[in-house]
Amino acid sequence: MNKSFFITTPIYYVNGDPHVGTAYTTIACDTLARYKKIMGYDVYFLTGTDEHGQKVEETAREKGRSPIEWCDIMVPRFKAMWKLLNIDYDDFIRTTEERHIKSVQKIMNLVWERGDIYLGEYEGKYCVSCETFVPENQIVNDDCCPSCGKKLRLIKEESYFFRMSKYQDRLLQYIDEHPDFILPRSKRNEVIQFVKQGLQDLSISRNTFTWGIPITFAPGHITYVWFDALVNYITAVGYENNPEMFQKYWTTGQHCNMVGKDIIRFHAIIWPCILFAAGEEPPTSVIAHGWWTSEGDKMSKSKGNVVDPYEETMIYGVDAFRYYMLREVQFGNDGDYSTDSIITRFNAELSNDLGNLLNRSLGMYHKYFDGVITESHTTEPIEDEIYGLWEECLKEYEENMDIAQFSKALESIWRFIGRLNKYIDETTPWVLAKDASKKERLAKVMNTLVNALYKIALAIYPFMPETGQKIRNQLGFTSDIKGDRIENIKGWELLSTGHKLGNPEPIFPRLDREAVKKLKKAKNFDPDLEIENAIDIEDFKKVSFRVVEILEAGPVEGSNKLLKFKVNFGDHVRQIVSGIAKYYPNPAELVGKKVLAVANLKVVKLKGELSQGMFLCTEDKKNGIRLIEAGSDIELDAFIS
Ligand code: ME8
Ligand code: MG
Repeated sequence: MNKSFFITTPIYYVNGDPHVGTAYTTIACDTLARYKKIMGYDVYFLTGTDEHGQKVEETAREKGRSPIEWCDIMVPRFKAMWKLLNIDYDDFIRTTEERHIKSVQKIMNLVWERGDIYLGEYEGKYCVSCETFVPENQIVNDDCCPSCGKKLRLIKEESYFFRMSKYQDRLLQYIDEHPDFILPRSKRNEVIQFVKQGLQDLSISRNTFTWGIPITFAPGHITYVWFDALVNYITAVGYENNPEMFQKYWTTGQHCNMVGKDIIRFHAIIWPCILFAAGEEPPTSVIAHGWWTSEGDKMSKSKGNVVDPYEETMIYGVDAFRYYMLREVQFGNDGDYSTDSIITRFNAELSNDLGNLLNRSLGMYHKYFDGVITESHTTEPIEDEIYGLWEECLKEYEENMDIAQFSKALESIWRFIGRLNKYIDETTPWVLAKDASKKERLAKVMNTLVNALYKIALAIYPFMPETGQKIRNQLGFTSDIKGDRIENIKGWELLSTGHKLGNPEPIFPRLDREAVKKLKKAKNFDPDLEIENAIDIEDFKKVSFRVVEILEAGPVEGSNKLLKFKVNFGDHVRQIVSGIAKYYPNPAELVGKKVLAVANLKVVKLKGELSQGMFLCTEDKKNGIRLIEAGSDIELDAFIS
């Protein structure tokens, strides 16, 4: 294998906006791509959009657009999200592009010529949301999709089939011989079991709608959207138009498809079989991640718990959001996104562990040596231990990054950060600083710290690109960290004598938990809220509300529930009877108060007393019934709207 690394996100359906799930896959890819670059790989990172098929066609129709118009509206929305999240992709592919159409037609024709496609009829259930055929034995809950739970549709049409069954043994052998083909390894068994149940031939054409890539040997038929979509990965590296590029990134390089667990079978089964049939290499690895819930629940608009990457990055910043997503769950497992846990990690790991290490180290270097790197020679055992620990942590980091175990890679780096904070407490630079004879010792301690930070900056850069850069800047380096390589951070004299450090500035100022929660609550409104029994403004205007002043208050004879009031309406006085005696044992205290009343209710008699209006009250468990008061300076003729 050459030292190239081709990594892809799934291409996303453009039926809706990018969300936290698509953000997660894309952040994971970006992190891996950046990591491979600093490891010296020639990286090519691809993302894009899946634009054909029934789901997109129907969404466009609902929005009153043609499919391509709708795609043209959505694509910039995806690009804007990736820009916000600092996703550094090399190519963005759209399946409606000419290069892709040609590529799909090329591979389709090839497989046809090789005899692995035949004409038949498909009759069965289809899930438009997953764009997938669902065999009878997998249907759940009376006609629903086992994957997304939505209602299935019956289709019956002439269809071309791909002879996938033919590749069952070859696929099993490939999986067997390539332990890292499906990552995390825990997902491997699931795929093996599925394949062993027997691979069916796959329907790969549709002819009852038109939004797809025409099949040249079968007029009237379009390519099944998954066959179309999967091929994007080779289109982008020149399958159809750039043999040299294709050779480098596909045939002889590592190529890795990152996906969510819901689409692992398409990638670990269908996709390699298509490639086998076309005489091409299967993907080197398919890496699958789990699904996120939010605050313990499935995300849904009606619950108001959908995590919005825009909102999250506004609160925590892009880097903290990226860090949290990859640190919170072990890649491959499902996870739960919660405000509490992101704040906890932010404050403990970013603000405290990392932020303080940087701040203390730089602060002391400025205080004791004016921020100028000072020569130091002899190390003590504690430095040797630190150096050794770095080697160990870096090794673990690399081993874990190589198999996309992001959280573990971060844990190793944070173990090192934790040790450095302890190192400061153990070496007590502030004590050394008081003794002129310990100057060199002090310099050694400080140099260990700033060298460590220089290394840490690069190790965390794939996760938090801006933070990596900021740390380097504060260490006095202006060069773009993106161009740095792991091999360049060997040794403990990375900052040369005389180098001037930058000024320390907090990188992750602590978050106030309550303030964040209030902010989130305020933002958490549902634009699609349905209001029950809603009334028109005209209905509302029928009610006349007034600010009134209580002139007199006292009991109603023969009732222990009712109180009787004389009330000033500004230009006249009325009597109001109200059932609040229990809550105002001393009614006289109400005299002089301004409260709210309804002025146009029909007059009634209660216990023989006229009531010519009604007070507005609140009633809750804690206080019982209370009159709603208007501010004492509000005028009696105030208009209430
Ligand atoms: O599947 N948590 O497109 P898509 C984590 N076009 N990940 C989630 C998630 C959640 N709650 N919700 C969605 C497609 N995802 C096809 C791909 S590739 C040749 C064609 C992930 O827009 C999901 O696992 O439905 C998937 O990887 C992606 O977001 C959504 O892709
Ligand atoms: Mg999906």
